[in-house]
Amino acid sequence: MKKAGRRWAGGDKRDGGDKRDGGDKRGGVDKRGGGDKRRGWARSDDGAPRVARRATKAGSRLSVGGPETQKRPSRHALTARGVAISALVEVDRGERANEVLPALLAASTLDQRDRSFATELVYGTLRMRRACDWLVDRFARGELEPSVRAAARLGAYQLAFMRVPTYAAVSATVEESPRRARGLLNVVLRRIGELADAGPVAWPDLGTELSYPDWVIERLSEDVGRERALAALVQMNSPASAQVRDDGYIQDPGSRAVGEVVAGWWDDTSEAPRPQHERGEGERAPDEASRLAQGGTTGHGRGVLVDLCAAPGGKATFLARHAPLVVACDISPQRADRVAANLARLGLGNVAVAVADGNLAPFRPGSCGAVLVDAPCSGLGVLRRRPDARWRVRPEDVGRLARLQRRLVASAASLVAPGGVLAYSVCTLTWEETAGVGEWLASDTGLGAGWDVLPPPGLPWEPLGRGALLLPQSAGTDGMYLIGLRRPA
Ligand SMILES: C[S@@+](CC[C@H](N)C(=O)[O-])C[C@H]1O[C@@H](n2cnc3c(N)ncnc32)[C@H](O)[C@@H]1O
Repeated sequence: MKKAGRRWAGGDKRDGGDKRDGGDKRGGVDKRGGGDKRRGWARSDDGAPRVARRATKAGSRLSVGGPETQKRPSRHALTARGVAISALVEVDRGERANEVLPALLAASTLDQRDRSFATELVYGTLRMRRACDWLVDRFARGELEPSVRAAARLGAYQLAFMRVPTYAAVSATVEESPRRARGLLNVVLRRIGELADAGPVAWPDLGTELSYPDWVIERLSEDVGRERALAALVQMNSPASAQVRDDGYIQDPGSRAVGEVVAGWWDDTSEAPRPQHERGEGERAPDEASRLAQGGTTGHGRGVLVDLCAAPGGKATFLARHAPLVVACDISPQRADRVAANLARLGLGNVAVAVADGNLAPFRPGSCGAVLVDAPCSGLGVLRRRPDARWRVRPEDVGRLARLQRRLVASAASLVAPGGVLAYSVCTLTWEETAGVGEWLASDTGLGAGWDVLPPPGLPWEPLGRGALLLPQSAGTDGMYLIGLRRPA
């Protein structure tokens, strides 16, 4: 993909920053595990911690090493910090924070206050992982076992970012750590406490200070301008906000805004469905699902509204208030189940759920009044909400996802009826996945050539390419991109 026009208008120069590829190299998943039996963590504790003291240029550093022999906690710890350490270990093994933490909390006996504290600890430590590792590695030498590394990061986060008093953070964190590492952790965390108390930390580089992989900083600086990128990255280090919609669905305001704009485009397209009292006697409401199964349009307005990548259903459930029939597709059966569960909870009867690959969607070409592609993406606009994603996404994922996004919008475009709407959205900020997809769509190969561009949302969205970008710092929302096109009638 050519990068013509990629730089943000008036964008600032890319400065060197920290050029080391990939930034934090520690992200690898360590398959070893362990724990402390006394706390309910099955582990083999051979008594005395294997602690070595070595003199280095940076002063005396400590290490504890060796494999941990057992993997999983056998039961969950009873304190917020214990739960947090378990969650951090699981995330390091490749689990997702937003799945593993709720499961650990559900299995715990923590009260609401401690649950919130555990959540803050886990999400904050994951966000600031690179910065925490730098602090820990100033004083601890060599490989740390996963649960020791997790406890050290957790302690560093409390000391440097939550400003929990040293005596409280150190003793409570050490208590929850494997017995043989307690001596080491005690010393390391006390040193970090002294450092944090001494004034602002002199971070070695921007990537460590902001706690992102270097490639993310460089990529976003290039794509949206350095100042905007840094403001977005700082913003995404703060806890996420979410709003409860009138119907009880909890949704980020940025994601909700996408639903609202698409609903506006749809409303401009469709005729209102005839309500029951306007139908003739004996005239039944059309059986939309069976018409659809036969490859027909719905008979309402300009057809069905399809959400091609719908799970967990935030936008589909919103759009169901506007369109008489929404079909919510997702490639993942498990995630489609989440849509179904949300529909049941909200009591929505006009949304059909389909497990389908959006590239092979089960609709007749040109039969849909609107198709939304809320595509899988690198998620670099939602890093507040998915704090571990920054360590999981790789630079090469961006190009791979952009190719998938292009395939999905091309497939979606083929389904749109004359006069109908194609909407494309992502929750990321890279040019390739945002304006780049719109540019490709307008090209001869993209099927959207000659389609009218629908009015993009106004402030706080900013025009970008054929659509609009919502930066996380503009309104404290997730970062989003949205394009709307109308197929000529
Ligand atoms: C960004 S999420 C969608 C969020 C959803 N629209 C909402 O508002 O709640 C992207 C979804 O695309 C799904 N997906 C990924 N590849 C797909 C494909 N080829 N076809 C259909 N869905 C796909 C994923 O399972 C995921 O649920």
